Amino acid sequence: MAKTLIFVVDDETESRLLLAYHLEKSGYEVEQFSNGPDCLKALDRKPGIVCLDMQMPKMDGLEVLKRIKKKDPQTGVIMVTSNNVVDTAVQALKLGAADYIIKPADREKLLTTVEDALDSTRVVGQIRNMEKGMKDDFAYKNIVGESQVIKDVFTQIERVKDSNVNVYINGESGTGKELVARAIHFSGLDDNRPFIDINCSALAEGLLETEMFGHEKGAFTGAIGTHRGKLELADGGTLFFDEIADMSLKLQVKLLRFLEEKSFERVGGTKKIKVNVRVVSATNKDLQKEVEKGNFREDLYYRLVVFTIHVPPLRERRNDIPLLCAYLLNKFKDELNKEINHISPEAMDILNHYRWPGNVRQLQNVILQSMLMAQTDTIEVENLPQEMRKARESTASAVEESASPGKERMVEGEGANSQSAPNSISLDEGEKQALLSALKMTNWNISEASNLLRISRTTFYRKLKKHGLSQTRG
Ligand SMILES: Nc1ncnc2c1ncn2[C@@H]1O[C@H](COP(=O)(O)OP(=O)(O)OP(=O)(O)O)[C@@H](O)[C@H]1O
Ligand SMILES: [Mg+2]
Repeated sequence: MAKTLIFVVDDETESRLLLAYHLEKSGYEVEQFSNGPDCLKALDRKPGIVCLDMQMPKMDGLEVLKRIKKKDPQTGVIMVTSNNVVDTAVQALKLGAADYIIKPADREKLLTTVEDALDSTRVVGQIRNMEKGMKDDFAYKNIVGESQVIKDVFTQIERVKDSNVNVYINGESGTGKELVARAIHFSGLDDNRPFIDINCSALAEGLLETEMFGHEKGAFTGAIGTHRGKLELADGGTLFFDEIADMSLKLQVKLLRFLEEKSFERVGGTKKIKVNVRVVSATNKDLQKEVEKGNFREDLYYRLVVFTIHVPPLRERRNDIPLLCAYLLNKFKDELNKEINHISPEAMDILNHYRWPGNVRQLQNVILQSMLMAQTDTIEVENLPQEMRKARESTASAVEESASPGKERMVEGEGANSQSAPNSISLDEGEKQALLSALKMTNWNISEASNLLRISRTTFYRKLKKHGLSQTRG
């Protein structure tokens, strides 16, 4: 990975060198400037963070901050100030600075502040990368994701895309099964071939039958002309049976015969029509159970399920959530003509921990809805649907309860519960709960938990310490 670039802007050589020294030693790439205008000129190099001295002769820190924010609101700015101007530091926060540190900054404080600022700009950074056209690093054929489980899905698509085997896609509603079906087809050898989808739950049996097989003129009242069915249209390409479990037993028989003979007759016709198609099918039901229940033919099941791709629910790939959010913000920005580039850390925390029963489709709706509600360039907690805010509170307290045994009692003691009115979790409390739920969810594996929250292990440890959780075990 490329090193994160940090600008250090300070007219005092000694303090500038000191900051630069600490940052470089910690693996950052540092560029130094002795005044604001020079730094502004170099902004095209897209620093991740600018450490900005408050008092400088040519142009003071606040002015430089304003101009940075105007030019590139996404750049994280950390103000560096001497003790006596903390008031101005607060003013800087209002102008969009990520944080401030007081001179002389000790190494520890400097690094944690930089790390935190980078964490909170991560989502924004991903959007920026997408805008730069780096989509391919994050998405495979429109399927956004970087979790191991979704990468496994990409690998499976790669394995079958150039073959002709029938593929069965299984997964909860809204997980992206249709996207996977399309990806299999459109990344194959020749994407000029037809991709024809048939939704088996949308039509009554008779209509579905003619939709699939077509009909001859006069086959039934109203059949004025000959009609080619979707099986014919798909010749040489892919037939996608969506919601396959909903197909009636009678049509299942006809479909099976077609798969065995590779030919069929139109409704009301006798002529055999030969077609060559690859069949991809999908359902959010458990098809095997449907076989056991007698709702789905076992012989057809084995024809269709030659290769299975399981698309995992969103809650099993939570580390895709920030990336999906970034992608969706970017996707809807133009549509809504609303420049919303941020999700507040507290709102992100809720999104990261929600159960997502409706998976990516639901996430998509939530982001769109929240963007509509947002008053600024940031999605805040109060822009999220109310049921999500509520869900967050109840899971948080459940996690808290189950995590309590044997751990040091929280610093706030008895006061904590009584004061937590609905929708008013404090930032600190929210952070603590996020840590606890992440630990719980990953069975107290620090690496996984920090991944889940998309913060570094160091930040994670520091935050545990801050909340008095470092000795905690579930
Ligand atoms: N990984 C992803 N990246 C980007 N968009 C996604 C992803 N997964 C799903 N979506 C989007 O979410 C929506 C639902 O996806 P899709 O229709 O493929 O789900 P499905 O599994 O077929 O759902 P259902 O079972 O309800 O038919 C679509 O708008 C799709 O574009
Ligand atoms: Mg679907």
